[in-house]
Amino acid sequence: MSQFDDLVQKIRGCTLCSLSEKRTNAVPGEGARDADIMFIGEGPGFYEDRDGRPFVGPAGQFLNELLLSIGLSREDVYITNMLKCRPPNNRDPLPGEIDACRPYLDAQMEMISPKVVVTLGRFSFGKFFPGESIGKARGKPRPWKNLTIFPMYHPAAALHNPRLRDVILADFAKLPALADDVIGAPEEAQEAKAEQLSMF
Ligand code: URA
Repeated sequence: MSQFDDLVQKIRGCTLCSLSEKRTNAVPGEGARDADIMFIGEGPGFYEDRDGRPFVGPAGQFLNELLLSIGLSREDVYITNMLKCRPPNNRDPLPGEIDACRPYLDAQMEMISPKVVVTLGRFSFGKFFPGESIGKARGKPRPWKNLTIFPMYHPAAALHNPRLRDVILADFAKLPALADDVIGAPEEAQEAKAEQLSMF
């Protein structure tokens, strides 16, 4: 079994905090295991707990739309959460739950080794920049260790406040240029560049 599969299995069977007692399914995450872009949300909700997959409810529908708006699909990126088990009634994660779950997210980040991490909402932003306001930070890429963090509002915010929909879409629209910058242009563009250079 690969190291990654081993981690997924550990998450699915985790009993490190009391959220494990009420869950239907733990939600490790999904997507490309070598993704350059990783999305980190807050924690599973009703639908995610039911299906064992991240962002499959209404917030997930909007995330799918956002990805599509920049020509990406869920398979191109990795999507996970701060918490791998659903808090009761979707309440905010507790500090002890975040602490208990931290080694899983850290191991995922280590194994996937993304170049850009998009934080969705204040809890995942707080992992990297504790105590700062997401309202001020959103939409502006920031260096953190050897990564670029791109803070965004949580997609669910647009479901509660439809005016945030355009804000989130506009922030998302900055992601392709950021990714090109950090990750490099897509392979075809690099080849075309190399071809041009070879003509001289
Ligand atoms: N909200 C989250 O933060 N994560 C999910 O997986 C679904 C909704």
